[in-house]
Amino acid sequence: MCGIVGIVGQAPVAPLIVDALKRLEYRGYDSAGVATIAAGKLGRRRAEGKLINLERRLQDEPLDGTIGIGHTRWATHGVPNETNAHPHFSKDVAIVHNGIIENFAELRTGLIADGYEFASQTDTEVVAHLVSRELAKGLGPVEAAHAALRQLEGAFALAIMYRGDEDMIIGARNGPPLAVGHGEGEMYLGSDAIALSPFTNAITYLEDGDWAVVRRGSLEIFDIDGNRVERRRQQSVGTSYLVDKGNYRHFMEKEIHEQPEVVSQTLAHYLDFANGVARRGDTPFDFAKIDRLAVAACGTAYLAGLVGKYWFERYARLPVDIDVASEFRYREMPLTRDSAALFISQSGETADTLASLRYCRQAGAPIGAIVNVRESTIARESDGIFPTLAGPEIGVASTKAFTCQLAVLASLAVRAAAERGHIDAARERVLVRELSEAPKYINQALKLAPQIEKLARELSQVKHVLYLGRDTNYPLALEGALKLKEISYIHAEGYAAGELKHGPIALIDEQMPVIVIAPHDRIFEKTVSNMQEVAARGGKIILITDARGAAQSSVDTLDTIVVPDVPEIISPIVHALPMQMLAYYTAVFMGTDVDQPRNLAKSVTVE
Ligand code: M6R
Repeated sequence: MCGIVGIVGQAPVAPLIVDALKRLEYRGYDSAGVATIAAGKLGRRRAEGKLINLERRLQDEPLDGTIGIGHTRWATHGVPNETNAHPHFSKDVAIVHNGIIENFAELRTGLIADGYEFASQTDTEVVAHLVSRELAKGLGPVEAAHAALRQLEGAFALAIMYRGDEDMIIGARNGPPLAVGHGEGEMYLGSDAIALSPFTNAITYLEDGDWAVVRRGSLEIFDIDGNRVERRRQQSVGTSYLVDKGNYRHFMEKEIHEQPEVVSQTLAHYLDFANGVARRGDTPFDFAKIDRLAVAACGTAYLAGLVGKYWFERYARLPVDIDVASEFRYREMPLTRDSAALFISQSGETADTLASLRYCRQAGAPIGAIVNVRESTIARESDGIFPTLAGPEIGVASTKAFTCQLAVLASLAVRAAAERGHIDAARERVLVRELSEAPKYINQALKLAPQIEKLARELSQVKHVLYLGRDTNYPLALEGALKLKEISYIHAEGYAAGELKHGPIALIDEQMPVIVIAPHDRIFEKTVSNMQEVAARGGKIILITDARGAAQSSVDTLDTIVVPDVPEIISPIVHALPMQMLAYYTAVFMGTDVDQPRNLAKSVTVE
């Protein structure tokens, strides 16, 4: 959740560290800080809030030094203020940390008893003092770091630097990712390869339990017992995407508008349009042989998986168990010999999703992952990956990654249906053609922006919103509510429309907008009945439907958004667009920080 950087360089590193932190700001933006060593002294600048505040601080009070570490924080222990901002110091030790030290309270008590004073409320400061205490016992810097690491429980990526050694940073990984970058007479550490992309594409990823001694001219990696280990150096395909909104106000707006292109690229990867087949590819499991697919993911990725469940079960008759990963990892789900597991993650680093994957690994199930970042930990630990070709997604609210995940899931469902003998070649051809039309219809849906923007002005005045849908529109209702609350801070709930009368109907009054996603499908009439129930109680209905649905809805609405008439299989992909735009424009009217909403982070590498 936090982003960390370290550079053992040739030129002053503070500006370079800030540059790398900009690429990591998606991981958290509660505070930021940089420390360097110059002329034998540790120097530090920290600032509450976004990175821009740190940059201003550094303009006023620059830092010299060709070795340094930096951090952008998503607060876990201690409020987001300057005192709790990293780097943390203990005598000659400077440290930045991503993760949670679970035994920090116990360690802190022992350190206080030994006379160490704590300046912050963070768990990280414990690590700085632990290393210091080991130094005070007479260990050298490398041995002291190793001894401290052995005392830590929890998840961490760390960079440690010592006053007195201007040629060494120690990195350690147990859980959250950490990459070492190889330069010309310079070395780098970063939470991901993208952070290091302006400096180098030559990357070595540390594995769990690894710690590394990084010097200008060398890299040594050890396991937790202190044995030397070898890790492959590879060429990262990470792009130095930073960071251009083009003519858009926000990344989220840009990413919404990129969807026709990226969904098209993603579909082309999985579908052979010329021959009308879903490509077999190198799936790590045989759809014809498995009898159950376990799916786990978080947030929007989970909701993509929930849509996928409808598709796999409907088209391929393949039963799907789907959980939010934070539940999956602890509920001890039995996996039969014929089960396979599928994980979905934009970042490929989400801690709960990764833990669920590891649970399935232990259970012996073959593992596939739908990921947007191909070098991520989830990608590396899977037996096979299904990439989404969304490109880097910068906005914290997921948009294009979601529709690309849907594109992959729909393509896989068609493939599974064919492999399991539930559709013939003619039906497969039809489904592939229908999927190929998704980008065209997404483009048409984007043209609804002016109407949706107008409606969003009204929505920005309300305190609560209900979203309703049936079938694949139920996960879309959940996604619409998630999108609205995360960027506009308006309370929103998504429900299966049929559940309305089992509780939420009590909320309906004249103040309550109810957004109903109801294209004219086989259960359209059922949803119309639910709308009648809302209308009878004075609720304000905003109907998202197609032309046939609009003509036949027979219910008074506050507004009706008419989405193109589309084949059933691409309906969720196309209907996602009005959900995203409604949330986006509402947030713009509310004046919130659309791309970096409060309290959130793009990549959630803690439990
Ligand atoms: O990187 P992941 O796809 O694993 O992230 C999962 C969720 O944290 C993510 O989808 C989150 O819910 C988004 N902010 C939703 O817009």
